[in-house]
Amino acid sequence: MKLTFMKLAFLFVIFSALVIHDINARPLHTIRLTRRDRTSGSMDSMGYAKHLRDAALNKYKNSKEIMEKSSSKIFNNHATFKQSNNKAYSKKKQSTIDIKDIQFDDAYFAAIQIGNQNFNMLMDTGSSNIFVPNTNCTTAACQNHNSFDTKKSKTFKEEGNPWNITFGTGAASGVTGIDNVKIGDFTAEKQIFGLADNLSDEFVNLESDGICGLAFDSLNTMDNHAPTLISTLIKQKKINPLFSFHLSRVSNFNDQGTLTIGGVDNSKFKGKITFNRVINTPISPTVNTLAFWLINVDDASVNKKSLAFKGRNAIIDTGTSTIILPDNDAAEIHSQIPGATLDTKSGMFIIPCNTTSTVAFKFGGVDFEINPKDLITAPIDGSNCVSSIVPGFNFDGKNVTWLVGTPFLKNVYSVFRVENPSVGFAHNK
Ligand SMILES: *[C@@H]1O[C@H](CO)[C@@H](O)[C@H](O)[C@H]1NC(C)=O
Ligand SMILES: *[C@@H]1O[C@H](CO)[C@@H](O)[C@H](O)[C@H]1NC(C)=O
Ligand SMILES: *[C@@H]1O[C@H](CO)[C@@H](O)[C@H](O)[C@H]1NC(C)=O
Ligand SMILES: *[C@@H]1O[C@H](CO)[C@@H](O)[C@H](O)[C@H]1NC(C)=O
Ligand SMILES: *[C@@H]1O[C@H](CO)[C@@H](O)[C@H](O)[C@H]1NC(C)=O
Repeated sequence: MKLTFMKLAFLFVIFSALVIHDINARPLHTIRLTRRDRTSGSMDSMGYAKHLRDAALNKYKNSKEIMEKSSSKIFNNHATFKQSNNKAYSKKKQSTIDIKDIQFDDAYFAAIQIGNQNFNMLMDTGSSNIFVPNTNCTTAACQNHNSFDTKKSKTFKEEGNPWNITFGTGAASGVTGIDNVKIGDFTAEKQIFGLADNLSDEFVNLESDGICGLAFDSLNTMDNHAPTLISTLIKQKKINPLFSFHLSRVSNFNDQGTLTIGGVDNSKFKGKITFNRVINTPISPTVNTLAFWLINVDDASVNKKSLAFKGRNAIIDTGTSTIILPDNDAAEIHSQIPGATLDTKSGMFIIPCNTTSTVAFKFGGVDFEINPKDLITAPIDGSNCVSSIVPGFNFDGKNVTWLVGTPFLKNVYSVFRVENPSVGFAHNK
């Protein structure tokens, strides 16, 4: 969550002259144009790429701190994992909605309604809070977004428990409320959500009004691990216990991104979905629980050459727009990409913008290739680009956990099963 707030603010600073119009994507009805950032200052491509990395690292540092403090309530994963692919889910309990992305595919948004008020939310499998601005919030970031008016909802109940989150250099805080939250065809009744009455400036130019966290309840900082929106919908038997993403690219004008809650969108993938059991997130000696969408990685390859990685795992995060690996693993991958060099000053890898190298990650015995165009973030000059695979992740202290964000996820259809916790991937159609 911290990542995406910050990076979008900067996007408008750096690329304010570049507006990409996704002409064929159906607009979400809640989207409003955002103002240009008031802050002056600019950032070069390298600075921008570093900023994305640092913000993502902060997101995980903060989540880890939250988890470490939450040892009072341990969640245990007793679910038995089944590979079963063809479970018959009720069609009545699934609904597909459009996902919108902007500019450089930096974040993915969907529309929801809280107490019949419209919001555009960032869909984040790397966090678990759901919050929107409160109308009484006077900070610049709140003024620039849709906000929740407690007086206009007949179903709203004030709960009033304080909550806060920190991210990079910014923060959000407020109190909790309870109301009905509608997503697609379904309404979660009495959902606990956050009303932010203080949003720092990093939120000013964020395209979305708030964040909808889609990880496990243990990461929710509200009300001592309140249920997420998805948990509530499942508990109230509104949806089948899963949700799935097709993340499009802004450059693919005719390809609509979708989020299917309670099922899968068969029009967006081919072949079979292979599932990978979610493993508990090992936070500390006392906290080892279902938290992130963490799964085992079999291996990675470059141009079909296996790198023989063993014992790695990956957090699957739709709210992170890079791929961050432990230093040695990032170096290993780039050693196989012709023309790749480590810029020691920034600690980032530089690759030729016209690279045709294909990196693949292997999950559940299947190789999923990353399109070379997704390997590139910001161009430094005409021929050199910053690689979207960056070093610096050491979440577990053992250098075996990868943070896998949208540069990979755009290349697959991804399925998140809550019951029988697992992440499934299939090839895009
Ligand atoms: C905003 O309203 C909430 C109740 O909805 C209240 O708890 C909070 O103190 C108010 N904040 C400000 C800045 O007025
Ligand atoms: C943020 O919330 C935590 C509890 O989740 C609390 O311990 C802390 O004091 C709060 N921080 C601020 C700045 O309000
Ligand atoms: C918002 O929070 C910041 C700390 O993150 C604080 O300095 C500032 O005074 C707060 N603003 C309002 C309007 O409460
Ligand atoms: C990439 O561009 C460089 C010039 O910047 C050129 O020498 C090289 O042949 C190009 N490679 C490919 C694969 O097109
Ligand atoms: C993890 O990687 C960092 C950076 O390369 C290194 O300093 C550290 O010793 C490594 N830790 C382990 C346990 O391998």
